[in-house]
Amino acid sequence: MSESPRFDLFDPAQTQTLWEKLRWLRRELPVSRPMEGFVYVARHADVRAVFRNARDFSSREGFRGAGVVVPVEESFLGEIDPPLHAELRVLMLQAFRPGLEKRALPFTRALVEGLWRDLATTRGGDLVERIALRIPSAVTLHVLGVPDADIAQVSAWGFELLHSTWPETNRTERGSGLGGAFPELAGFLDEQIARRRHSDAPPDDMITRMTRAEADGRRLSDLQIRTLCANVLLASLSTTNLIGNLLHRYMRDPAFECTLRADRSALGPAIEESLRLEPPVLFLFRTARRDTAIAGHEVHEGERIVLGIASGNRDERVYERADDFVPARWPGAAEHLTFGPGPHLCLGNQLARMEARVALEAAMDVLPAAALRLAPDFELEWVPMFLEYGPDRLDAVVDAAAV
Ligand code: HEM
Repeated sequence: MSESPRFDLFDPAQTQTLWEKLRWLRRELPVSRPMEGFVYVARHADVRAVFRNARDFSSREGFRGAGVVVPVEESFLGEIDPPLHAELRVLMLQAFRPGLEKRALPFTRALVEGLWRDLATTRGGDLVERIALRIPSAVTLHVLGVPDADIAQVSAWGFELLHSTWPETNRTERGSGLGGAFPELAGFLDEQIARRRHSDAPPDDMITRMTRAEADGRRLSDLQIRTLCANVLLASLSTTNLIGNLLHRYMRDPAFECTLRADRSALGPAIEESLRLEPPVLFLFRTARRDTAIAGHEVHEGERIVLGIASGNRDERVYERADDFVPARWPGAAEHLTFGPGPHLCLGNQLARMEARVALEAAMDVLPAAALRLAPDFELEWVPMFLEYGPDRLDAVVDAAAV
């Protein structure tokens, strides 16, 4: 039996460059132990099986640090197990009704075209900061129902929250829970919820839908709605990496831009292939609830299971030319693992795809062909987050002669 190669799951310099090691693991050791207490699952079928098996594999410890206990009403959906998770999910599905992304399209188009026009005016800039970071939070806040005038402030609070100690510890030096650590954001959300509760004709948005959602006599409390608003906002920020990865390809590979300009319908498969090949979230964790087995390998109660999304997405057993960017495989290829196929399947997956599509379409509409390029001295660095995959900066120039 081969020895498990060791690597540090919390070091982005390692997790973002693991491709060779992952290929070896898929072939030789599909279930391995890179660190004490952590079991890495490398093959597509096995990752999928763990995603689907919430009975044996708990989401409870989620992304929080060891020993951090968060009250249930202040827990994100992704850290709640059945049966409560299923009950809340049914209510949240009423808020995330089908077609959400179509209704958000006009807002998204107007926002993104404005961002590209600004970029053209300044002849370039960092596309992560100027484009990819701006879209997801604004669109999510718009669908939640946050008034346009408040979106910039609430986005800023969201970024502060994401980059604070709160996600890991549920507290900052200001206090604990969302209310203690971020009283301005919590207060703002509480006020939005209260307005809708007390209005006879509230707007038809996601917050209103959460206040009205009902199944088998169960409803969401105000505290749960506040928590879920923060949940949706933070979860949506992975879309920045998707947009960043696509814009990086658009600028570094002129043939990619030509293909998209010649046929806009090539955009959907390209987004799907980017999601597969360069997933914004590289892996996720579960905890074994009991002694069990994954693909015949014993795992023990309490061990942390690493769901190798990025590895499974390049599984040679499932995808031909698995390391290459081949949009033509879509539709028809096996579902990638990027949105977590299982009971926790990403609620915002259609919204994320729509945002990526609009980001590229608007670039092509606002800027002439071949006008957008990487700055000559650009050097790629990945976001400094161990389980994320996307460019940290994208210094771009807009060809003045072309605009
Ligand atoms: C490309 C962008 C995105 C990626 C890669 C992504 C990825 C994921 C993944 C892998 C999960 C499953 C977590 C698990 O199984 O533990 C998830 C759950 C979730 N995502 Fe996304 N997501 C993206 C965008 C969004 C957006 C735009 C929203 C909302 C507007 C969103 C809201 C959620 C929510 C609420 C959950 C929790 C679902 C549950 O636990 O039942 N995500 N996401």
